[in-house]
Amino acid sequence: MPDGGHAPVLLEEAVAALAIKRDGTYVDATFGRGGHARRILDSLGREGRLVALDRDPAAEAVARSWREPRFSFHRARFSELDAVLDSFGIGHVDGMLLDLGISSPQIDDPERGFSLRADGPLDMRMDPSHGTSAAQWLAHATERDLREVIATYGEERFAQQIARALVATRARQPIVRTRQLAAIVAEAVGARPRRDRSQDPATRTFQALRIHINQELEELALALDRALPRLASGGRLAVISFHSLEDRIVKQFFRRHAQPFGGDPRLSRLPIAAAALPSPGLKLIGRAVRPREAEVLANPRARSATLRVAERTQAPLA
Ligand SMILES: C[S@@+](CC[C@H](N)C(=O)[O-])C[C@H]1O[C@@H](n2cnc3c(N)ncnc32)[C@H](O)[C@@H]1O
Repeated sequence: MPDGGHAPVLLEEAVAALAIKRDGTYVDATFGRGGHARRILDSLGREGRLVALDRDPAAEAVARSWREPRFSFHRARFSELDAVLDSFGIGHVDGMLLDLGISSPQIDDPERGFSLRADGPLDMRMDPSHGTSAAQWLAHATERDLREVIATYGEERFAQQIARALVATRARQPIVRTRQLAAIVAEAVGARPRRDRSQDPATRTFQALRIHINQELEELALALDRALPRLASGGRLAVISFHSLEDRIVKQFFRRHAQPFGGDPRLSRLPIAAAALPSPGLKLIGRAVRPREAEVLANPRARSATLRVAERTQAPLA
C-alpha cells in the first residue's frame, strides 16, 4: 500500500482505461494517498505531466513530500478544476481520473469524524478548514431537512424516525461525537427489520451526512461539467464511483454527451438521416467495470466500486 494505508481500487483497470500517452498531460482530481497517481506517473515518459488535486490537507502533505518534476499538486475541490489548470497554464489534457468518496486514512482517523466504530468528534469535512461540520449542521437543521438528507443521500427508509430522534436528543444535549450519533440512530431504528443485517444501523445515516456536508454530488456534477471541455480530442475521462447516487450522475452525464441531441427521446424520434445528426462530444468506452472477486476479498472497500470511461470525440461541444 502506498503512503499511509489506502489500497487503490480498480487500479489496473482505471489506469489502463486512461490509455496513457507517454508525453501526455493527465489530471488525478482525487489524489488521496497517490496510489493511482503513482501508477499514472509510472506510465508516463519524461515529457509527460500529472496534475493532482485533493481538498484534504492530509492528502496534500503526502503529495508535497513527492520529489517528482513531472508532478504538481494543488489543494482544491475538483469543481475548481478550471482555476487549477489555468494556474498551471494548461489548456487541454489527455485524460482525467476521479476516484470518488473518501480514502481509508480519512475513515481510519477517528479525529476526522467519518467512522461510526471509533469514537471521535462529529466533523466529517474532507477539508476541515472550510464549511460546516456535521455536529454544527445537526445542531441547527430542521427535522424536515434532516429527514430529507438522510432519506435521499442515505437511501434510508427509517429517515423519519431517525430525524425525530435527532431533534429530541439535541433538545437535551448537543450531538457532537460519532459513537453518540451511531447510538441514537441504532435506538431510533430499534428492532425494525433491516435490509442488510450485516450492516451497522447507522451506516446509511453516516453516508448521508458525509455526502451532504461535503456537497459530494454537487461537486461531482460540477467536476464532470468542467472536465469535458478540458479534454483534448481522444482524451479519456475515467470515474470510479462507490454508490448508486454517484454512479447515476456519471452514467447520465456520459449518456447525455454520447448521444445526438443529448439522448432526448423526443428529438431522437425525428426522421433525420443519421449523417445529418449532430456528433456527440463523448464516446463511451466499454461497459461499466466492477472489481474482480479477488480484489473485493483483499479490499472490502472495493465491493461497491464501478468504473465508467468515456473518450472525447472531435465534435465541437454543444
Ligand atoms: C477514494 S480517495 C482517492 C484515493 C486515491 N485514488 C489513491 O489511490 O490514493 C478520494 C479522495 O478524493 C478527495 N476528494 C473527494 N471529493 C473531493 C472534491 N470534491 N475535491 C477534491 N478532492 C476530493 C478526498 O479528500 C480523498 O482524498
